[in-house]
Amino acid sequence: ADVKSYQFDIVVKNVSRLCHPKPIVTVNGRFPGPTIYAREGDRVIINVTNYAQFNMSIHWHGMKQFRNGWADGPAYITQCPIQTGSSYAYDFNVTGQRGTLWWHAHILWLRATVHGAIVVMPKQGVPYPFPQPHGEAELVLGEWWHHDVEAVEKQGNMLGLPPNMSDAHTINGKPGPLFPCSEKHTYALEVESGKTYLLRIVNAALNDELFFAIAGHNMTVVEIDAVYTKPFATDAILIAPGQTTNVLVKADRLPGRYFMSVKPFNDATIPVDNKTATAILQYKGVPNSVLPTVPQLPQTNDTKFATNFLANLRSLNSQEYPVNVPLNVDRHLFYTIGLGVNPCPTCLNGTRLTASLNNITFVMPQIGLLQAHYFDIKGVFRLDFPDKPLAAFNYTGAPLTANLGTSLGTRLSKIAFNSTVELVLQDTNLLSVESHPFHLHGYNFFVVGTGFGNFDPAKDPATYNLVDPPERNTVGVPAGGWTAIRFRANNPGVWFMHCHLEVHTTWGLKMAFVVEDGNGPEESILTPPKNLPPC
Ligand code: C2O
Repeated sequence: ADVKSYQFDIVVKNVSRLCHPKPIVTVNGRFPGPTIYAREGDRVIINVTNYAQFNMSIHWHGMKQFRNGWADGPAYITQCPIQTGSSYAYDFNVTGQRGTLWWHAHILWLRATVHGAIVVMPKQGVPYPFPQPHGEAELVLGEWWHHDVEAVEKQGNMLGLPPNMSDAHTINGKPGPLFPCSEKHTYALEVESGKTYLLRIVNAALNDELFFAIAGHNMTVVEIDAVYTKPFATDAILIAPGQTTNVLVKADRLPGRYFMSVKPFNDATIPVDNKTATAILQYKGVPNSVLPTVPQLPQTNDTKFATNFLANLRSLNSQEYPVNVPLNVDRHLFYTIGLGVNPCPTCLNGTRLTASLNNITFVMPQIGLLQAHYFDIKGVFRLDFPDKPLAAFNYTGAPLTANLGTSLGTRLSKIAFNSTVELVLQDTNLLSVESHPFHLHGYNFFVVGTGFGNFDPAKDPATYNLVDPPERNTVGVPAGGWTAIRFRANNPGVWFMHCHLEVHTTWGLKMAFVVEDGNGPEESILTPPKNLPPC
C-alpha cells in the first residue's frame, strides 16, 4: 500500500459559462476539482488550505472512514470548518472498498462548485470482475448557476422561499454546445472504433436526479457507489445527487460523433426541461464538422423508467465479492420524510419551508457533534431521536396538516455497536414531488426493499431482496413511497444522514447516528488529529 498525498488550495476564480463570467470557489482553480486517485489499501492524505473568504470543509463521499470520523468532513457534524488562512489534513485509509466515489464541500452550498471524483483502483494485480476496458473516463455531472450560490441558498433558507434553479446542467463542468457561448465549453471523449470504455459517472448536482444516455450506444452498468453489480444493459441510467455509476460502453457504431446527454428526472412535475447538458463521444479520426447524433432520453416525468432501472440494480454477489445482508434485525427504525411550512418571523411571508424526519427539523449545532461526543461536552445534542413517528397516520394520503408541524432540535439516535439496523424511510409526499436521495455517512447499506404508497410492516418485508440487493451509500426514496435499508452498525462514531438534495438538507431533512461500542468514545474512535480545526 502507498501513501497518496494531495494539496487542495481553496481559491476563488473567475469562470465563465453561458456568456456569464462570475467568481466561484474552487479547488486549485479548477471546476470541477481534481480527481483523487488511489488503490484499495492506500493511505490518502489531502491537505486543504483555505485561501477563500468562506469557511470550508470537505467530505469524501462514500469513504467508510472506519473509526475515523475526523476525516469525514461535514461541517459541525464531525469537525468545525477550516477558516480562511488555515489548513487541515484529511488523513484516511481506503479499506475494503474500490470503485468510483467523489468528494465535495460539506458546508453551506459550496459543493455547487467545490467537488470532484475519487477513483479507487483494485489492489495491485486484482482485475475488475468484468472485461478490462481499453480506456476509462470520469464524467462529473453538475449544475451551473448564474446566481451566486450563496444568494441562492439565502433565498431558500433565510427568506423562506423555494430556491432559484440552476441555469444549466454540466458534464465535467461544461454545459455543451446547445447553450449560448458554450461551443468551447464542451467535453469530448475520444474513442477508438471497436474498443470498450469504462465511464465513471458522478452526480454532483445540488438538486436534480439525472438521466444520462449516449446516442446510439447501450451501456452496461457494472458498479454503483463503488460496489460491483450484476452487469445489465440499458439505454439510459438514472443517478441521484450523491450517487456514482460505472458503465461500460463499446464504440461499436458507425464512426461518428454522438451526444452524451444529461437531463433531470423530476417525478411528478410537468415535463419541462431547458437545462439538458451534452458532451460528445467522438470516434477517432472523425472531423468536428460532423453533426452529433442526439440520444433518446426518458421524459423528465418517466417514473416507470426510473422504477424499472432501479429494480435492475443487483449486487454482484460473487465468490470474490459476496453480499452479507443482515438477515436478523436488532433495531427497527421507521422515519417519515416531511416537507412543510413553519412560522418564520424574519421571513418575507412570515413562514418558511421546512423539512423533517419524524416531524423533527434538525438544527445544526455550533460545534462539531463528534467533538461533543468524544470530549463529552454537554448540552450540544440530545440522544432521543424517536425510532418511529409519534403517531402513525396515512403517510401518503393524509391531509396536509398531518405533517406540517415539526419541532426543532439537534436530536440524534444512539445505535449499539455491531447491531443490525433496518431503517424504513417513508415519504409523505405533501409538498414534494421529488424522490429524496438519502445518504448515510460512514457506511454502505443494503437496499432491501422499496415501493409506492405506505409501507406495510405485515406484508412488505416478504418482498425484500435479502440475496443480492444493491449496496450503496445513497438511495432514492421514491416520491409517495418508501425504501427499506439494512446495515450492520460496525463503525463507531457520529454519522450524518441526510437528503442529498441541497435545498432539503438546508430545510432540515437530516439527523445523525451515534454508534458506540460500550467502551466509550476514546476506546472506539481514533484519536483526533492535532490540526483538527478549532471551533
Ligand atoms: Cu455527499 Cu453528507 O454528503
